[in-house]
Amino acid sequence: TRVEYLNYEVIADHGWEIDDDDLFETASDADLDTDDYGMFLAEPGETLLEAAEQRGFAWPFACRGGACANCAVAVVEGELDSTVDNVLTDDLLDRGFRLSCIGRPVSETLRVVYNVKHLPGLEDLRL
Ligand code: FES
Repeated sequence: TRVEYLNYEVIADHGWEIDDDDLFETASDADLDTDDYGMFLAEPGETLLEAAEQRGFAWPFACRGGACANCAVAVVEGELDSTVDNVLTDDLLDRGFRLSCIGRPVSETLRVVYNVKHLPGLEDLRL
């Protein structure tokens, strides 16, 4: 899976929105640091968090077991399979939020915003 990622902090700093249509195009033109925006390949079977760590990135997490929401990402395009998610509410799932510590990329490409733990609705879920 080809993963394109973007740090939520950058979105907030620039006044962008997660659901902007051309968010990733805008980000790719913005000359961002590779910690904040870029691409990597996830191997089959890796969780998204593991894949990011394998490629040298330090994304937020705490429990690594689907029990907090520190590792949450917003999936903008593609699919993350996370069947044992007990933390995110249906509303958050509907809005595309997933847990990167248990979510495995299943689509060919994936666009995610990581570091979304401070978004309203997610902050209350952290244990
Ligand atoms: Fe706690 Fe992923 S690190 S749910």
